[in-house]
Formats: sequence, structure tokens, C-alpha cells
Amino acid sequence: MSEFVFPQGFLWGTATSAHQVEGNNTNNDWWAWEQAGKVKEPSGLACDHYRRFREDFDRAKTLHQNAHRFSVEWSRIEPREGEWDEAALAHYQEVIRALRERGIEPIVTLHHYTNPLWLAAKGGWANPKVVDDFARYSRRVVEALGEQVRYWLTINEPMVYMSMHYLDGVGPPGEHNVRLAFQVMEHLIRAHAASYHAIHQVAQSHGWPAIVSLAKHAQMFVPCRRWWLGDRVIAAVTERIYNHRVLAALMEGRVKLPGQRTIHIPEATNTLDFIGMNYYGRVFMRLQRGGRSQWWGVRCSTRHHREVIERNCLDWDVYPPGIGQIIRWALPYKRPILITENGICTTDDSQRERFILRHLAVVARAIQAGIPVIGYLYWSLLDNFEWSHGFGPRFGLVEVDYQTQARRVRPSAHRFAEICCTNCLRIENNETGNQ
Ligand code: FCB
Repeated sequence: MSEFVFPQGFLWGTATSAHQVEGNNTNNDWWAWEQAGKVKEPSGLACDHYRRFREDFDRAKTLHQNAHRFSVEWSRIEPREGEWDEAALAHYQEVIRALRERGIEPIVTLHHYTNPLWLAAKGGWANPKVVDDFARYSRRVVEALGEQVRYWLTINEPMVYMSMHYLDGVGPPGEHNVRLAFQVMEHLIRAHAASYHAIHQVAQSHGWPAIVSLAKHAQMFVPCRRWWLGDRVIAAVTERIYNHRVLAALMEGRVKLPGQRTIHIPEATNTLDFIGMNYYGRVFMRLQRGGRSQWWGVRCSTRHHREVIERNCLDWDVYPPGIGQIIRWALPYKRPILITENGICTTDDSQRERFILRHLAVVARAIQAGIPVIGYLYWSLLDNFEWSHGFGPRFGLVEVDYQTQARRVRPSAHRFAEICCTNCLRIENNETGNQ
């Protein structure tokens, strides 16, 4: 049996995003994409969380969570360009009040994949105007919510947003265009910087505390064939670009994308007050000029790979030591680290329990080694709408019956609750497995 006590004030909780749980987000580009039949099934009412947030937060509280990450939906707050929906802002004020009343620290994401239709119509993230639009929206949101919010995340997973929507084309606008993708990346970095300064300006003018970051998706890239130099090179190159370019840009104020000149963005320098990290597992890569993504590497399946010991329901690799690796990657940036997402979809809840314990054991070792990890947010509180995969994948600590909207707390949630409540991870040696 091993035991580890986490630092005092450690943030324990879960993460969600507006479009995946709220329901009826009819005014954004993902909704339109779904209506056009581009996904397995549309998001529809999702978890009806827009109306049921109080009961969902009651559960989070009963489960001893003290933090909750969620996103506010731009298309509700600014339904038409430059027009603010006061009712939507009041709704999110209520959401934050509900969290605070339950002793849960709100962590607010401003952009989690979805865009208002008016923004998409003018070219979305490919149009440089998005930078000012996003800054103006950030300012308005902080004016409305900032008194009660300390932790802000500007953008969820810029790399995933870019590749999912502009390289793999599995989300709107469904592009497969490297040139456009790099423009989008530049705009995401500029928009983060503009939003960072906007948040601080507004907060400061009111004397409200604010710390700002983004949620960086990080993953290890492993060669499909370790003996083949080409695979090793493409895995290593992809790893550097994917995991480090955005973070480095937001520290150094410049970014270099493959085949492009260095772009200087001085206003992006030092625009991370902490580092938000999302981690799910490893990706296996082989050298091949590009499939639909037009990159020099393509993923190979985890199905038959000898190194893959465990997979989730989407065939993603499960690899707990990797969370230690991504934490170490954040070290040179010398900021506190918050695990903003880590989770598994599975139909076997005991696999979820093992997943949490094993990842937390690695996080605990990192903290023991002196790395300042300040919290861990499991993805997700509820089963929810998993983008192009629809409702099939079950990531929730709480099961949702989409027919009746009934909730059922899974056993893994209780095990996680024990850890949250005691601020201590106690595990039998046989529970961590052999990785
Ligand atoms: C992350 C996304 C989140 C969810 C999980 C499973 O990359 O941020 O919205 O889809 O994956």
C-alpha cells in the first residue's frame, strides 16, 4: 500500500465544455455542421446541463470536488456581431454562483472549439479579424463574470482545434489545408495574447485577481516502427512542433511553423500565468506524406501495436507514465501546472478507476520530485457529446441516460471522491498495474 498526501489547496475536480453538455447550442458552427449530417449524430439536447447545472453541481459537491472547469458559449453571449445577450451572461453568473455556493472553484474557458455563426460566416479563425473579435468578447465576459472568477483559460487546445478543423476536416469548416491551418495557428496565438491582456486589464481595473492560461493538449509521439529511422524522425519532429510550439510562442513572443518564416508576436511574450495541460495518451506515427492532413507523418492504429497494453473505447492508447512526461515538458516554462483534462471513455468502469489511480500515482511522483502541480481535473463530470463520435464514448464519472436525462454516479466517481475528500491517494500496489 502506498500513500501520498497532495499539497494543501490542491484543485480537485472535473472539466466539461459548453457544446458537449449544455444542449441546444443552435447558434454555432458545430450545430450547423451537425445539421448538415457531417457527424454520427447531432448534439441536440446533449446533457441538458444548461438547465440542470445545479443538480450536476450538487453531485460534484457530494463527490468532494473543489474545482470545476467549464466553458462559456460565445454564440450565446454574442449571438450577433457586437450584440450581447444579457440573459446569457446572467445565466453564466448563476452558474458561477452555484459553484461558489457549493465551495467549488470555477475555472472558465472562453473558447472550446465552437464559434458563433456570424464569426464562421466571415471566415472564422482563418480571418485575422478574429483576434479583435475574441479580445472584445473576452473583455465583455470578464466584465460580467470576473468578480467571481480567478482562473481563466482562453482557448482549449489550439493544436487540436487547428488540426481537427483545418487539417483532418472532421469539424467545421472541414478543411484539409496546411497553409490555412498555419494561418489559423497564428491567429490562435495572437487571439490568446489579446485575450490574456484583455482579461488582466478588466480584472485589474476592478481590483479582481485573475490568472490566465490556455489548455494545451500534449501527447507523446512514438514511432510505429522503432527500428525505422524515418518513423523515428517524424515522431520526434511532430512531438516538438505539436507539444512545444504554442507554449514556447506564448513565452518567447515568436513562433516558427514548418516551412514558414519566424513570426514575431511580441505581445504574446509571457502570456501564461500557469500552464494548463490536457493529457490522454500516446500517438504512434509513421513517415508517409500525408493522408488527408497533408503532414509527413500519419498515425498508425493502436490495435495491433505491440507497445500498446491498454486502449480506451476510441482505441486511443492508455499510458499513465506519459502524464509524467508531459508535466516535465512544462517545466522549462517555470509556471505552476494544472492538469486541465485527463480521462478515459470506457464501458468498464473499473478500467476508469484504474486509469485515475495510475495517472494520479504518476502526478504524485512528479509533485514529490518538487514539480508544482496545483490541480487535477478529470474529463469529464458527465458522459457527453464527443464531437464527431457523437454520444457513444462514455467519459463521465456520472452516467447520463440520454433518453430520460437521468444521472447515475459511477463507482469510479466514489473512489475519486475519496481522494478529493482526503487530499490523499492511497493505493494497493496491485492497483497501479505494471506500467
Ligand atoms: C479533449 C477535448 C474535449 C474532449 C476530450 C475527450 O481533447 O478538449 O472536448 O473531447 O478530448
